[in-house]
Amino acid sequence: MDKNTIDTFRYFLKDSIRLEMDFSLTDQSRGIAPPPIQKPYPPDAQLIELPSFDRIVNQGFRLFDAIEGRRSIRSYKNRPLSLDELAYLLYCCQGIQKVISPSTALRTVPSAGCRHSFETYLCVINVEGLKKGIYRYLPLNKQLLVVYEDNKADEKIVASTLGQSFTGKSAVVFIWSAIPYRMEWRYGLAAHKVIAIDAGHVCQNLYLSAEAVGCGVCAIGAYHQEMMDNLIGVDGHDEFVIYLASVGKI
Ligand SMILES: Cc1cc2nc3c(=O)[nH]c(=O)nc-3n(C[C@H](O)[C@H](O)[C@H](O)COP(=O)(O)O)c2cc1C
Repeated sequence: MDKNTIDTFRYFLKDSIRLEMDFSLTDQSRGIAPPPIQKPYPPDAQLIELPSFDRIVNQGFRLFDAIEGRRSIRSYKNRPLSLDELAYLLYCCQGIQKVISPSTALRTVPSAGCRHSFETYLCVINVEGLKKGIYRYLPLNKQLLVVYEDNKADEKIVASTLGQSFTGKSAVVFIWSAIPYRMEWRYGLAAHKVIAIDAGHVCQNLYLSAEAVGCGVCAIGAYHQEMMDNLIGVDGHDEFVIYLASVGKI
């Protein structure tokens, strides 16, 4: 690796850009309307109501126990997740607590400038009441959108994670895409580092919340970009996968 290439990639991790770019040129500064909180969907989309998860919250699991018990787990029991367990995990990672305006909402995780540039897709393999396939979380509606059902979802997630076979034996794989414009609208070229930082918060909440429902999680940063974008049906330019995590009973 030559020094210039290393410097280019290291530069991405720094915040030097903040003093180098002209924030008066961002789309927000130029008065362009912000993108919506949640990716729109067609009016005839098939939607599934997510149930209440009060049962799980009322168990009163201790945060310290979750922090202390967390480990990356790649071996799961062949037992399904219930729909309320899935609803709970989704809420803990990306749930909306308060809508501030049509373009801003407070969620269960922090995000630079409150821009929240992620969508959460699920590769469902073993969840009660759901057929195998690809789904998208709609945090504003507290619903799941059926992207498509697919009996081979388990085989496809293994192939798209470059043969990481434990993904196919999990109950569900969380697949986070980024819609970078949500962050670029405010921060321009200073958007991309903070999008990557934001993704870590989301996955960490999944690790910790999974402890309360007897599940193990494994973060996944190694995957085939094009196959994964195709799997969830995004264009790979304005929206693309940036992080995943498998979840299953332990
Ligand atoms: C950004 C990131 C990417 C990761 N990618 C993978 C992966 O593709 N496959 C995998 O098996 N584990 C992956 N892991 C899990 C790490 O291997 C694991 O966190 C590490 O070995 C420490 O173990 P612990 O999480 O149990 O403390 C990833 C973890 C992070 C934070």
